[in-house]
Amino acid sequence: MEPDKRRMERAYDAQAPGYDDAVGRGIRALMRQLLGDLDVGEAPVALDVACGTGISTFALIEKTGGKGEFHGVDISEGMLEVARRSAEARGIKNVRFAKGDAENLDYPDATFDIVISNMSLQFFPDKQRALSEMHRVLKPGGRLAILFGAGPMFQEVWEVLEVVAAGRPEHPGFTASVEEIKAMHINLDDTEALMEGAGFERLHVYARHRLTYSEPEFIIHDIPYAGCWKITLPEDVLPEVVDEITERLTEKGTGKGFRATWYVILAYGTKP
Ligand SMILES: C[S@@+](CC[C@H](N)C(=O)[O-])C[C@H]1O[C@@H](n2cnc3c(N)ncnc32)[C@H](O)[C@@H]1O
Repeated sequence: MEPDKRRMERAYDAQAPGYDDAVGRGIRALMRQLLGDLDVGEAPVALDVACGTGISTFALIEKTGGKGEFHGVDISEGMLEVARRSAEARGIKNVRFAKGDAENLDYPDATFDIVISNMSLQFFPDKQRALSEMHRVLKPGGRLAILFGAGPMFQEVWEVLEVVAAGRPEHPGFTASVEEIKAMHINLDDTEALMEGAGFERLHVYARHRLTYSEPEFIIHDIPYAGCWKITLPEDVLPEVVDEITERLTEKGTGKGFRATWYVILAYGTKP
């Protein structure tokens, strides 16, 4: 596994225990948007790629009325442990959560009627390969629905992180992690090209773009996405870096909070 994927795995292992409380409500709202345009059919065999703690998988299960066979795959064992506990607590028996990499799905060709992925494609270094894998494991006629952070998502936050990381050259992992976050976002044209490159047809690709106003503390502490760099710093250095970022975000704040761009792409396609 390449080093950047290991960093991602460690970042989400660290965030797993607080993930549902921090972003559960927001993730469920995104899933309502994603599933709104997806025909789930009758009792599908379905896969959730980068399922995390299973919030997205459970939303899909609910939409099918609980009928079908469900699989979730994620690179972080910490996130998967939470998912398995939640499934048990909900009494859901027709779901399996397994560790794996979106770019090398451990399922035979033509296994699934539906593949979904929520808020995760942005993290995959080789997006073409991940989409080709999703295409490979779908049955002919199978449907893909993905939602992910894209384009100018949180660009104002990355700009601040970049300045702070540049002031800490003694921690090259911090700079590398911030550069990685900045570089991972694609746009609508890229998405269409990647979906076509993977072999999907009947594409439906669109973006939702809005401005958000948040407290800096919320961005730094509660948005896992904006805190992936944290595991790159030693524990005795992290608090002062968090303070510096909070101060800089506060300086740029308006009376309504720190203004950040929210931009997600929703993309649907069918395997011919
Ligand atoms: C923001 S969370 C989204 C989780 C879930 N889909 C949801 O909607 O709550 C992103 C997830 O992507 C996973 N991830 C990142 N890179 C991955 C990869 N290459 N393969 C599989 N999972 C990956 C992380 O471990 C994390 O659980």
